[in-house]
Amino acid sequence: MPLLQTAEVVVRFGGIHALSGVDLDAEEGCVTGLIGPNGAGKTTTMNVISGLQSPTRGRVFLDGGDITSKSVHKRARLGLARTFQRLEVFGSLSARDNVRVAVELHRRYSRTKVDVEETTLALLERTGIAGLSDQRADTLSTGAARLTELARALATSPRLLLLDEPGSGLDSAESEAFGHLLGELAAEGLGILMVEHDMELVMQVCTRIHVLDFGVKIAEGTPAEIRGDPRVQAAYLGADDEAVPPEELEGAPAGGHQ
Ligand SMILES: Nc1ncnc2c1ncn2[C@@H]1O[C@H](COP(=O)(O)OP(=O)(O)OP(=O)(O)O)[C@@H](O)[C@H]1O
Ligand SMILES: [Mg+2]
Repeated sequence: MPLLQTAEVVVRFGGIHALSGVDLDAEEGCVTGLIGPNGAGKTTTMNVISGLQSPTRGRVFLDGGDITSKSVHKRARLGLARTFQRLEVFGSLSARDNVRVAVELHRRYSRTKVDVEETTLALLERTGIAGLSDQRADTLSTGAARLTELARALATSPRLLLLDEPGSGLDSAESEAFGHLLGELAAEGLGILMVEHDMELVMQVCTRIHVLDFGVKIAEGTPAEIRGDPRVQAAYLGADDEAVPPEELEGAPAGGHQ
């Protein structure tokens, strides 16, 4: 049984069909990719899974249990954590305090007796930002701010982590290091569902990939299968903005991709 499963999820915003019957899954211990052109419905899918958006129809299952009508907080307590496409860190707090607040909140909710300082430091070290702990979050580079957000998400000891474009704003060295970190987290058993435009990162870390286009799942497979899928190539070539050139889909260096 997959850790996460969505079944025939439909989301309509007025006349816009943001999602039309999306079935996808993510397993524990691996990174699953969710890709597609701008406006394909990726963030909407993440919102439905995390509980920020109620689906018009369809169900979401975590570990086989139906969580469709559970609140964001209940889902968090069941082991779901996420980061956002638009960074969500407290700008006026240091990186350390950003993480500490998340650790404290989790300790209160879960009633575990973790040592807050020790856990905070371990998370900062884990994500490679211990050296920047005292810096205000709004003065961090995008890469470091994204790592701070990741450390906050990990503070809840999730079983499933949802990442919405974690690679955006990272340079290629940061992106490669980030990919290694995701691989390590997955090897420890964490399930990760990642929305990402950086095809090099996607092809580097994902075991399986789901592809959305105009709210419809058009393909699912291994990186090799997705690279060679003509429907996927057509979807990207048909997109006006942020079209991914075919050579990039093939995992070549991302070059000028924003
Ligand atoms: N709250 C909303 N109200 C109305 N329409 C919305 C809302 N949120 C998303 N949409 C529309 O739903 C569709 C899917 O949007 P979504 O943000 O999920 O796409 P995406 O794949 O994450 O795109 P991007 O790659 O640009 O982040 C788009 O047509 C978008 O304009
Ligand atoms: Mg999005």
